[in-house]
Order: sequence, then structure tokens, then C-alpha cells
Amino acid sequence: MNMREKLQELAENAEKLIENSDNPEKLKEVRVAFLGKKGELTAILKSMKDVAPEDRPKVGQMVNDARVQIEKMIDESQKGLEKKIREEKLKKEVIDVTLPARKAVVGHRHPNTIALEEVERIFVGMGYEVVEGPEVEYADYNFTKLNIPEDHPARDEQDTFFINESILLRSQTSPVQARTMEEGKLPIRMIAPGRVFRSDEVDATHSPSFHQIEGLVIDKHITFADLKGTLQEFAERLFGPETKTKFRPHHFPFTEPSAEMDVSCFKCGGKGCRFCKGSGWIEILGCGMVHPNVLTMCGIDPEEYTGFAFGVGLERIALLKYEIDDMRLLYENDTRFLKQF
Ligand code: DAH
Repeated sequence: MNMREKLQELAENAEKLIENSDNPEKLKEVRVAFLGKKGELTAILKSMKDVAPEDRPKVGQMVNDARVQIEKMIDESQKGLEKKIREEKLKKEVIDVTLPARKAVVGHRHPNTIALEEVERIFVGMGYEVVEGPEVEYADYNFTKLNIPEDHPARDEQDTFFINESILLRSQTSPVQARTMEEGKLPIRMIAPGRVFRSDEVDATHSPSFHQIEGLVIDKHITFADLKGTLQEFAERLFGPETKTKFRPHHFPFTEPSAEMDVSCFKCGGKGCRFCKGSGWIEILGCGMVHPNVLTMCGIDPEEYTGFAFGVGLERIALLKYEIDDMRLLYENDTRFLKQF
């Protein structure tokens, strides 16, 4: 085989290998195999010393032509491969702007929040202020200033989370009454919503943490008639204008007299149904005239001022209004449940 044929064959081999290189790495291997320092073409160049001196320019020219030819083939193939890779990448990254958009999941107000805002709207509309008190409270405010005696069962560790002897997690929002009265700004018309704590087991109607809304009115000449009229108005605005109320005598240490208020069942209108357990009435809140002892302990003269108070469970209102039959649903934060309200 003469040099021309040898080079011819080399170029043909290179061409075949280049054609079969379907990625840049393989192509690089081909480049090294033919044009690299230890490549085949370099080997031929090294064998030039065996060529007769008068033939060397010609042979040298041939080798050079072969090198240029192989380089050109590799460069072209390289460009082709790069183009293909770019096109594939673009194809993968293509955005179809006609596709329907994915719906963003947006947050939603919790039933407790919706119910609270409704209660707040009603009382703010009647001129009440919304105030807050601490969740970690002194036993003094949670019990003593509310006329709850030392030996009262509500102080029992079984009911209340004590932090130490004198500090606890408030078991009711009523201590905010005492705090507001102590500030000494009279008259008072306030509601105090917030979280309360009791060491109860979790079930459909109990939770160790729930919410109450406290109400307090202190002024001259406040009577039980004011209490009844206010809470009747509240019930009508919350449950509808047909709503009737009924006050049953009850006992709370911080009010005298005390009562529990029932509303006529807004589901059956009072005829009796599954919702009101056949009675036609639903218990809603506790209330009463602020006990003179409480007024005195909080620095208000009971001869000059009187007042009424009430306490309502927020979860109870949310459960009733939205016909939810298990309190636990309010705490699980399952968005499939929450987004229904
Ligand atoms: N604090 C009472 C409770 O947790 C509810 C209550 C009843 C509050 C009567 C009051 C009230 O202000 O007058 O059961």
C-alpha cells in the first residue's frame, strides 16, 4: 500500500467513526485517535523519515491534506451535534401558553374566625370596645378577684393548668373583666375574646384549649333588664330576627343573680328537632349582674355603679352556626373541611 492509499484508508476510517459518533464525547475520542499526539496521522508523520528526501514535500502535502480533511469532518460533525443538542433542549423547555393554569390554593378564614368577627361586629355596632388579656394569668385575676373562693372546685388542678401556685393558664376570659375594671375608666362596655385552657380530654365537645368571648358593661343604673335586652338583640343579630331567648337561673361566683341563656332552636324554630335534642332550645351563654364583691375588689363602688357580664363559647357558636357536629374538626386544619365555610 503506498502512502496515498494509506492516507485514503485513514480518512475513510475516520469518516466512518465520525459518522457513528452520536455525542461530543465520542467525537472527541475520534479526534484524539487520529489527530492527537499519539494519533494515527501523527504516527504517519513520524514515519516521514523513511520517505525519500525528494518525495517528502509531496508526501508532506498529502498528509497535511488528510489532516485538514479529517479536521473539517470532525468540526462539521461537532457543529451538527451541538445544534441537535440545543434543539432537543429547546424542545424540552417549550412552554405551551395555551395550557390551562394550575389553580393556586389560597388560604381561608377559619370558622372560629368567621364566628368571632360576626360577634365582634354585633357588639362593636352597639358601642362596645374589644379588649384582650393575657393567656398566662395570675390566679388572683382568674379566681380571687372574681369572687371564686379558695376552696372552689374550679381551682382544682384537675380543671386548671397551673404554672406555679399563683400563675396559671387562664381557664376563662372572665379575668379580663377584673383587669378592665381595675383600670378605673368608667363606664365600661367591652368584649374580650380569647383562648382559654382546661385540663379536659379531647372529645367531640371538649378540648384542653378553646375560646371564649367575655362581655362586661358597668355604668350607673344598669339593671337585669339591660342585660336581657342586650343579649336578646345579640341573639337576634347572630341567629336571625325570629330568635327568642330564655333565661334560666344559674350560679356563677362572680355574678348575682346569674343565669344561663337559651335561644330558640334556629333549625326547627322551637318545635323540637335532632339539632336541639327535641327541646326547641339551645344553651348559648352564661351571664348575670356583676357581684358587688367583684366590683369592690376591682375598685368600683357597688353603691354607685352596677353592671352585667356574660361569657360565651366561641367554638359552640361556630359549631351551631355552621352545623358542625364534632369540635375536633375545628382543630385539625384539614383544608377540605375549612374551605366549606
Ligand atoms: N366564665 C364562665 C365560664 O367559663 C362563663 C361566664 C358566665 C362568664 C357568666 C360571665 C358570666 O361573665 O357573667 O363558664
